[in-house]
Amino acid sequence: MVETIVWTDAGVVMIDQRRLPAEEVYVTCRDYKEVAEAIRSMVIRGAPAIGVAAAMGVALGVLRGDAEFDEICDTLARTRPTAVNLFWAIDRMRKLHESLRGKPVEEVRARLIEEAQRIRLEDIAINQAMGRHGAPLVPDGKTVLTHCNAGALATAGYGTALGVIRAAVAAGKKIDVFADETRPFLQGARLTAWELLQDGIPTTVITDGMAGHFLKSGRIGCVVVGADRIAANGDVANKIGTYSVAVLAKENGVPFYVAAPVSTLDLTLDSGDKIPIEQRSPLEVTHVFGVPVAAEGAGIENPAFDITPNRYVTAIVTERGVARPPYGDSLRQMAKW
Ligand code: MRU
Repeated sequence: MVETIVWTDAGVVMIDQRRLPAEEVYVTCRDYKEVAEAIRSMVIRGAPAIGVAAAMGVALGVLRGDAEFDEICDTLARTRPTAVNLFWAIDRMRKLHESLRGKPVEEVRARLIEEAQRIRLEDIAINQAMGRHGAPLVPDGKTVLTHCNAGALATAGYGTALGVIRAAVAAGKKIDVFADETRPFLQGARLTAWELLQDGIPTTVITDGMAGHFLKSGRIGCVVVGADRIAANGDVANKIGTYSVAVLAKENGVPFYVAAPVSTLDLTLDSGDKIPIEQRSPLEVTHVFGVPVAAEGAGIENPAFDITPNRYVTAIVTERGVARPPYGDSLRQMAKW
């Protein structure tokens, strides 16, 4: 399987997700500012993956000694606002750094590098656990609909939503996948289809507007998506377009599952309305691969995420088990461990 992100002696190496599937090229970030730019420009994307990138960025910044610790953390925290895994990972590195106060600089550097690599490895194990919990929910002999890319590329490996799909396939279920194209960045058409086909999982790309048609058809057994942040009441922030899929799933009696690690829970927010939504450049909407497609002069909106209210979410799969409504209780239990 392709490596999303690895720590090397030369720096942090990431597969360039802007160029997939046409080209498989890797970017080496040699200082923390380059890591921050890679997150901002979507060389690397997906909530758990940007958490790993931020942790490695902190370790790289301290190793190179280019800036004060707080400046490194703040620069990385300013890259993208919605995925809480980014802040979770920076916080974890910050706590470790504080606990090492007074230790020799060489030891501090080594421990931060070790911690960033541990976060990466833990993420893969977490996704595999999520897969084990989620696979039984996937109906055999049907199609799974997913939105955006919540796969190996969005994590350190294996994936959240696509981890559940991979585990269902490994358990012998005969399923195929419908991947929403996911305008405007096309994570579904480019990334989800690419990585699932590499694993030999039959995948069909549909445009976002086709989801309702297929959810009504009886062909879709369930929807599985990832998340960027989940509020204490179970409201889910995920890629723009997820909310429409969830409403259409409920309307058609199709279960709607969210797969996300506990690090995606933000129990400090009582509702999804408080989750900050990233607004990205209008150019992502007006242009497709550099070609203008929108009438010049038209107003443009580009919220990168939307909030799916908890009433549309059938269950939330984490590495610790399956949370069901009422989420106020079940998510608190999940986080308590
Ligand atoms: O803008 P992106 O590509 O970073 O958005 C990614 C998503 O919305 C994913 O569904 C989410 O981060 C979960 S990834 C396991």
